[in-house]
Amino acid sequence: MTKRIVIIQGHPDPAGHHLLHAMADAYAEGASAAGREVRRIEVAKLEFPLLRTQEDFETGASPPGLRPSQEDMRWAEHWVFLFPLWHGMMPAMLKGFLEHIFRPGFAMEYKEGGCPKRLLAGRSARIVVTMGMPVLLYRWYFGAYGVRGFERSMLSFAGIKPIRESFFGLSFADEKKRSHWIDEMRKHGRRGD
Ligand SMILES: Cc1cc2nc3c(=O)[nH]c(=O)nc-3n(C[C@H](O)[C@H](O)[C@H](O)COP(=O)(O)O)c2cc1C
Repeated sequence: MTKRIVIIQGHPDPAGHHLLHAMADAYAEGASAAGREVRRIEVAKLEFPLLRTQEDFETGASPPGLRPSQEDMRWAEHWVFLFPLWHGMMPAMLKGFLEHIFRPGFAMEYKEGGCPKRLLAGRSARIVVTMGMPVLLYRWYFGAYGVRGFERSMLSFAGIKPIRESFFGLSFADEKKRSHWIDEMRKHGRRGD
């Protein structure tokens, strides 16, 4: 049973109050009510520069403002990412955050001439995405490419499995539907998945 969960809020608006914030709160409530330990990361409230060079990636240290997040992610057995779909992908702020977090020694251990070792095995993830378009269009016409890239080149590459998805298309969503989706997140929190 998943005990330790970190919820990573990737909406770039630090003011909160979006559907994704209500979903994150509901997930956290459900998980805590079921006796799980929950930590939360609000990427929009963190201070960090963008990563600029491979040299910094390989030999530099994470910005001080991101070290607690890296610790929380290492601590957790289950990661829940939430973000709005921006141009078919995650918003740049979340990508910028993850480029620092996924430095060598955190997700992968690189060996000269050998295959990199996956350091995140044993963890699982859920990716929660809201989008303007209908979900079917994103899945079938666009092949969910931005989320697939995230899953394949960052999460499963580093050993995370299973990776579950919750996609929500807002184009035809009324209040009733939104509150149903929030309840759905509470259930996932209770189950720790
Ligand atoms: C910069 C930007 C790019 C967006 N790109 C897409 C997109 O490619 N596909 C899509 O379905 N919705 C897109 N949207 C709509 C957002 O996904 C949608 O508004 C968001 O999930 C709802 O969250 P919010 O209104 O709480 O921010 C975009 C919105 C913004 C601001």
